[in-house]
Amino acid sequence: MARINENYLKLPGNYLFAEIAKRVKKFQADNPNAKIIRLGIGDVTQPLPQVCIDAMISAAKELGNVETFRGYGPEQGYEFLREKIAEWNYKRRGLKVDAEEIFISDGSKCDCGNIQEIFRLDCKIAIADPVYPVYLDTNVMAGRAGDLNADGKFSRVTYLPCTAANNFSPTPPENKVDLIYLCSPNNPTGTTLDKAALKIWVDYAKKNDAVILYDAAYAAYITEENIPRSIYEVEGARDVAIEFRSFSKTAGFTGTRCGYVVIPENLCGTTSDGKKIPLKNLWLRRQTTKFNGTAYIVQRGAAAIYSDEGQVQVKTLVDYYMTNAKIIRDGLSAAGLKTFGGINAPYIWLKTPENISSWEFFDRLLKNFHIVGTPGAGFGPCGEGYLRLTAFGSRENTLTAMNRLVTSG
Ligand code: MLT
Repeated sequence: MARINENYLKLPGNYLFAEIAKRVKKFQADNPNAKIIRLGIGDVTQPLPQVCIDAMISAAKELGNVETFRGYGPEQGYEFLREKIAEWNYKRRGLKVDAEEIFISDGSKCDCGNIQEIFRLDCKIAIADPVYPVYLDTNVMAGRAGDLNADGKFSRVTYLPCTAANNFSPTPPENKVDLIYLCSPNNPTGTTLDKAALKIWVDYAKKNDAVILYDAAYAAYITEENIPRSIYEVEGARDVAIEFRSFSKTAGFTGTRCGYVVIPENLCGTTSDGKKIPLKNLWLRRQTTKFNGTAYIVQRGAAAIYSDEGQVQVKTLVDYYMTNAKIIRDGLSAAGLKTFGGINAPYIWLKTPENISSWEFFDRLLKNFHIVGTPGAGFGPCGEGYLRLTAFGSRENTLTAMNRLVTSG
């Protein structure tokens, strides 16, 4: 009999967005005439930038010619893309990140989920609460999280509460942890960590020999100048932090799939006998074994955003969604709801009315207004009593949704 990995059985219910999709499907089947507006999962709706389309068409043509055909690409990603990322996202902002420290992937979700494999099972993890569920779920699957307690928390996980009282900014715990997942701009709260907050984390990581796993998938949505786009803007971060970035939200690649991880050359973990091992080498070993690279066509498409024209097109896309974010914030306020986020992020985090539960409010929005949101409780215990709306819908749907809330709310 093939025995299963019983850690999977410790996961409560379905993956958050799969559960939402299931409920919405049922509601639609029961109410075929309902014109449902989906502002739940953060999936983009606008077309890819033209520069990406052109580059992908031209790459496809290369593959159709025996002279320029390519098979397996480098597992770490093509140099043309890694060089461009290093130049445009880091060097031009005065940061030192070399192309050799960048690993291209088929999206940040896989990277954030897989990175834990290069760390020992007894590493202690800390996660912001609420936060993107992939960090916790993948550690549960691996067997690192312990057991689920009655309070909805896993026994071996340190939860870092992010509440309105601390401006949704997690602070280091009293205890020592080895791996810290931070996400800024945060999914789901849409709030950010400033340089001072990040410096506290970098200092904590140095003092405790910990590694920060910094998810900056939404960095392109930061509008305020003083908010760091990268953790490497903080002095000393190269010694303690791995950074995750994505083209999904920056350039509309949620379906096209492309992301990357930065692992600085000097960032090490230790063996049980105290020997220091570069994490970059372990990740390279992992990727070369388990991954055969992101499609050439996709990497050419991603590289196309690193040109003057590409940057203008990406900015237009980001501006479009951020205008939606403003429409949502204004609409929710007009409907008497308290909101957070949506200034440096495409997510708006709202307090449920009359303190009703996240799932109750999810059901109310769906039933009364035919709007899909994401219940805050799905992102962690501190998300209870909140709900997330995404700005990634079309303008028309966003306006209609707010109109439904304001006029009949
Ligand atoms: C979300 O809605 O939180 C995101 O779409 C999830 C993701 O990027 O995987």
